[in-house]
Amino acid sequence: MTKEKERKMFVGIVWNCAAELKFILTAILFLFSLITILQFMPIRFSTNLATTCISVPSFSSSTIIDSVSVSISAINASTAVQQPPALVKDELLENGVIKRAFNPFGSAAYNFILMSAYRGGINTFTVMGLASKPLHVYGKPSYLCEWIPNTNDSNMQKHINVTGTKILPDWGYGRVYTVLVVNCTFPIPVGDGVNGGKLLIHATTNGGGDSKFNITDTFLALTESEQDFTNFISTFSKPPKYDFLYCGSSLYGNLSPQRVREWLAFHVRLFGVKSHFVIHDAGGVHEGLMAVLKPWIEKGYVTLQDIRDQERFDGYYHNQFLIVNDCLHKYRFQAKWMFFFDVDEFIFVLKRVLLSLWLIRYRIIHSSPLNKCQCPTSSV
Ligand SMILES: *[C@@H]1O[C@H](CO)[C@@H](O)[C@H](O)[C@H]1NC(C)=O
Ligand SMILES: *[C@@H]1O[C@H](CO)[C@@H](O)[C@H](O)[C@H]1NC(C)=O
Ligand SMILES: *[C@@H]1O[C@H](CO)[C@@H](O)[C@H](O)[C@H]1NC(C)=O
Ligand SMILES: *[C@@H]1O[C@H](CO)[C@@H](O)[C@H](O)[C@H]1NC(C)=O
Ligand SMILES: *[C@@H]1O[C@H](CO)[C@@H](O)[C@H](O)[C@H]1NC(C)=O
Repeated sequence: MTKEKERKMFVGIVWNCAAELKFILTAILFLFSLITILQFMPIRFSTNLATTCISVPSFSSSTIIDSVSVSISAINASTAVQQPPALVKDELLENGVIKRAFNPFGSAAYNFILMSAYRGGINTFTVMGLASKPLHVYGKPSYLCEWIPNTNDSNMQKHINVTGTKILPDWGYGRVYTVLVVNCTFPIPVGDGVNGGKLLIHATTNGGGDSKFNITDTFLALTESEQDFTNFISTFSKPPKYDFLYCGSSLYGNLSPQRVREWLAFHVRLFGVKSHFVIHDAGGVHEGLMAVLKPWIEKGYVTLQDIRDQERFDGYYHNQFLIVNDCLHKYRFQAKWMFFFDVDEFIFVLKRVLLSLWLIRYRIIHSSPLNKCQCPTSSV
């Protein structure tokens, strides 16, 4: 009896549910048929849909143009001043073949990102920065250096052009960007202590990126005043200010202030009073580390460079090859010896002799390798 009642109730429930199910199923069926019909409606509909859905494929070029102009005006009114390029459409050729069109938009990597430029002699300069890696790996970009003296006197020096030699120092480790050093060596001395001048770089893609275009971007790499030139000549001809100059790689991550304190004290003691340490902060100089560096900065042993902005450009290891090249060319006439190693590495001299004496011997013999200890810890 009770069993039968339960069964009845169960059946009743199923039946009741079935009625609701029927309704839901009908509704779903109706919705889906509506969607199916919508696909065959004119394009106007899909444009409306495009505003609500994220990716609705557009089948006609007119909708593409609409969305392009919309997105440009949405980004910034000032960019809208640049007219969007007219779209090239597919074309029906006379022989019945359809010639498909390809429409490029934007540019994903800069041609050149300038970090610095230094004079390296009376006729030579180095310009360093980052450049698009695929452009260098698969294309053949070239660089032209132009020196422009600051003078209106036509009898004086004129503009002079020379091909820049490119050096890619990061062994192909780069990512979106690779480090690029351009050496501009003019056949004659340029600049003087009377007029000053400036160095322009014309960076040409030679069809890398888009073989249809040979794009040249020109930028001002260096402006040299009369005083800058005079200062260079005096640094260039004087004996170096430092015996030892340390160029550090990009510091990042959670460095232990205590370890850096030990490292710095050890190397200041080893290198002596005529030494200097250039530390590069790629996000690793936090408050604790700053407290360690500050007394050394005040004593004139340490220069701290904030290079956090290079993080915007995806290169190898916080763009350390760019950073050490900058340091090399910035300080090359100020030190007898320059050292490039990390803060988890220590220099030591086996016998108790002065490092400078040891290095002089090294210079003469050119044989004994410099002892370099790689410490077991990886972060510091
Ligand atoms: C657009 O550019 C102007 C400068 O031309 C600037 O003031 C404004 O903040 C920009 N707006 C946006 C949304 O980036
Ligand atoms: C550029 O290269 C030349 C030739 O190798 C060299 O003599 C010159 O010192 C280099 N210039 C700089 C600024 O390094
Ligand atoms: C060169 O001429 C321009 C325009 O005549 C003037 O503004 C500029 O100061 C002059 N430069 C020098 C270095 O004399
Ligand atoms: C140097 O090259 C630039 C770019 O091609 C050109 O505009 C300039 O006139 C050239 N200067 C000389 C002196 O040839
Ligand atoms: C691109 O332009 C530069 C400078 O005008 C020129 O030297 C070079 O030959 C051109 N390259 C190609 C592939 O046309």
